[in-house]
Amino acid sequence: MLVSAKEMLQKAKAGKYAVGQFNINNLEWTKAVLLTAQEMNSPVILGVSEGAGKYMAGYKTIVGMVNGMLEELKITVPVALHLDHGSYEGCYKCIEAGFSSVMFDGSHYPIAENVEKTKELVAVCNEKGLSIEAEVGSIGGEEDGVVGAGECADPAECKMIADLGVTMLAAGIGNIHGKYPENWKGLSFETLDAVQQKTGDMPLVLHGGTGIPEEMIKKAISLGVAKINVNTECQLSFAAATREYIEAGKDLSGKGFDPRKLLAPGFEAIKATVKEKMELFGSVNKA
Ligand code: 13P
Repeated sequence: MLVSAKEMLQKAKAGKYAVGQFNINNLEWTKAVLLTAQEMNSPVILGVSEGAGKYMAGYKTIVGMVNGMLEELKITVPVALHLDHGSYEGCYKCIEAGFSSVMFDGSHYPIAENVEKTKELVAVCNEKGLSIEAEVGSIGGEEDGVVGAGECADPAECKMIADLGVTMLAAGIGNIHGKYPENWKGLSFETLDAVQQKTGDMPLVLHGGTGIPEEMIKKAISLGVAKINVNTECQLSFAAATREYIEAGKDLSGKGFDPRKLLAPGFEAIKATVKEKMELFGSVNKA
């Protein structure tokens, strides 16, 4: 059964480790992440962006697929199904479809409007026992056509949003979705420290987990990050493994064109990436 992300993140914050949010793109992705979480005995959050939701034939299809897998694959570790960077309307659609967690990304609204909409959604999620993530300070890079500049959040605004009763808070600390550019300045630990001092026990979320050096990940966890989002890195490992299979001409030999064979190396590559991240984040055996 899907669970809210609340308990797993509060435990992670108290225990100084982070739970990975791995974005899913199709059936192979979902199965790879769930099986790895079970093998690692780790809690996990499946992230779905609005674009990925559309791609996978809608939120209800995803809820059906994930619930089916939890049962058929005998997944017993805590799993949350979470809308990533949701719009106001998207949050309501996911709540209705059976997601166990949503992110309302109101970072592009003026702070007063972000507060008002977040407050309303917090009340709805609380009533239904779902977790809700809010964002202050936009995350850099491009996701589903939305481009952010990688701002650093204002700690006072973070406190304002945290006080609305959200479950977890994403604060921009110079992080970027996708690959980091050569001249990236790194995470702003000064901002993270100030945000944590203002928000106390609130589990903080680090977006753009791909390509952040290990030492920075560890430091971020020590400063209150309890959820780390990874998307691009699984896509890169999937693509590299698939490319290798095709370049070796394996799709042309025997029944190598069968999708169950063609997609197998990519599937294994996602599993390896997820395992590596769970070890780095410290969530192994925390289920
Ligand atoms: P990356 O694609 O950089 O790993 O970021 C994922 C993310 O933050 C999803 O919200």
